[in-house]
Amino acid sequence: MFDRRKEQLIAKIQSFCEAKGLPIQKAELRNIPFSGEWGVALPFFPLAAADRDRSGSVPQHAQALAEALKAELGIPEGFSRLEAVNGYLNLYFSTSEYAKEVVTSVLNESNRYGSRPGSGKPTMIEYSNPNTHKPLHVGHLRNVILGGAVSNLLEASGKPVVRVNYIGDIGLHVIKWMCNYEMYHAGEEPAADKMRWMADLYAEADKRFSEDPAFEHAVRAYFARWDGGEQHLKDLWLLTRAWSMEGFEQVYDLLGEHFDHIYFESEVEEPGKLLVEDLIKSGLAEDGRPENPVIIDLDKKLGTKEEYRVAVILRSDGTSLYATKEIPLAIMKFSDYELDESIYVIDVRQSLHMKQMKKVLELMGYEWAPRMRHLAYEIVNLPGNVTMSSRDGTVVLLDDLIREATERALAIVREKNPSLSEAETREVALEVALGAIKYPMISRENTKIVTFDWETALDFNGQSAPYIQYAHVRANSILTKAGGRKPERFDFDYDLQPSEINLIEMISHFPVEVERAAKELKPSLIATYAYDLAKSFSDFYNQCQVINASAEIRGARLALVDAARITIKNALKLIGIKAPRIM
Ligand code: ARG
Repeated sequence: MFDRRKEQLIAKIQSFCEAKGLPIQKAELRNIPFSGEWGVALPFFPLAAADRDRSGSVPQHAQALAEALKAELGIPEGFSRLEAVNGYLNLYFSTSEYAKEVVTSVLNESNRYGSRPGSGKPTMIEYSNPNTHKPLHVGHLRNVILGGAVSNLLEASGKPVVRVNYIGDIGLHVIKWMCNYEMYHAGEEPAADKMRWMADLYAEADKRFSEDPAFEHAVRAYFARWDGGEQHLKDLWLLTRAWSMEGFEQVYDLLGEHFDHIYFESEVEEPGKLLVEDLIKSGLAEDGRPENPVIIDLDKKLGTKEEYRVAVILRSDGTSLYATKEIPLAIMKFSDYELDESIYVIDVRQSLHMKQMKKVLELMGYEWAPRMRHLAYEIVNLPGNVTMSSRDGTVVLLDDLIREATERALAIVREKNPSLSEAETREVALEVALGAIKYPMISRENTKIVTFDWETALDFNGQSAPYIQYAHVRANSILTKAGGRKPERFDFDYDLQPSEINLIEMISHFPVEVERAAKELKPSLIATYAYDLAKSFSDFYNQCQVINASAEIRGARLALVDAARITIKNALKLIGIKAPRIM
């Protein structure tokens, strides 16, 4: 903000220094920490130290220089006052001009405010990664939400992003499903809710597999046919995999997620086995077959101790493992796209695996290996601290969670605003419901466990999506009440209230917050920012008249409300949450 004024100032400082024969490259202005006034400071110590005409000590001389520049500058345009203290020149901006500049740039940039146009090599983000023939359950939620938000953030910070999904489409779970289908459901087609239908059949197959030895036996025989490459099984696999993918799509649509590229485990299995042979030949891997698996003893190779441990890359019977497929997948990613970085959103329990894979690829000589990055996240607990995994039978389908959230949100929206039409109520309730689910997944740091409970998620007065969405609705309704017309001219030439200065300050931070969050891959920073912004807006709204303010103030405050509305909306969008207009 205030770039033009700063440039003008820098030019003046430059000529001051030149006239005095001071060695200056480019004057470095630092922002003065905000305390109700905006400004920049220029430290004089380095210049004083370098000045050949120095008189007295460095601090004394710095102070003298600061005073000399102050006298020469007077009060430059756009500034309200200057102060030379302790070897610094502090320059305070004219509050009204600065406020106007912040608000005007938000209004002009509108939905682009906070984002930069993309350029350079793309970053790939792999997330979601479900297994076909199984449902997307609540345990998958944090991954999808986090991956989507990180993608949005990087994009906003000016990096092209490739969103990819790595799907587990082969393995025992698929064989179980298909065998059960052929034995008990041959010819059936999925119901409208494809994912639920697939999930029900999966649960049935899984139950039979663990309870009925005859079925288990049938599955083993079926697996052998699959390994033999039987065409009929391949056809059925492709058909049922497509059903599964359609089911996933339904949920991604609902969540507002999309992927640019899908990688399947099935495409990397064979390449993985070939790579293992190469690794054995090159001496990197040790072949323990037939008794033992193929391994890479990383600690032994690197001389480290219990750091990288042993990576197992092929079973003793020659069948593939998770790691067998990881290696070709990484290579494929970097050859399909000229990537800057390759990010993996995978839960924290796979940290060692990812660390090993990165090291293996590095040892294989891939220069890009250091540009692989594991974004680890912790699990989500349900109330009562029930872990949502697919193994212990506590699976909550994602659909179910969204449905329950929507029911709860419907009741709240109906009560808050009975005048909305049924269609409006439903639309708003869905946006509130999705926000309520997404916000807790994002607002907590990735590496901390989320405990999800309805009270907090839907608390209109707490740190929640509905609270932020509600601030947006209020801003919107003020503008509607004012006639919907944006003021064309406005000025902040009046005594600004602390709450409005504070709001302007919050709004002006947004681009910096986006940069920081993108750099640290921390959407939680934006979740917190959105909440703080909404809170500043509420303070302003409670303390300052807008519609009923006097004519000269009203225009400026309406413009400020609009800038707040835009910024709240843009911040929510980055974390995948919609901002309803009414509620
Ligand atoms: N599909 C795997 C699972 O459900 C996760 C895959 C994670 N991605 C990866 N590149 N390893 O556990």
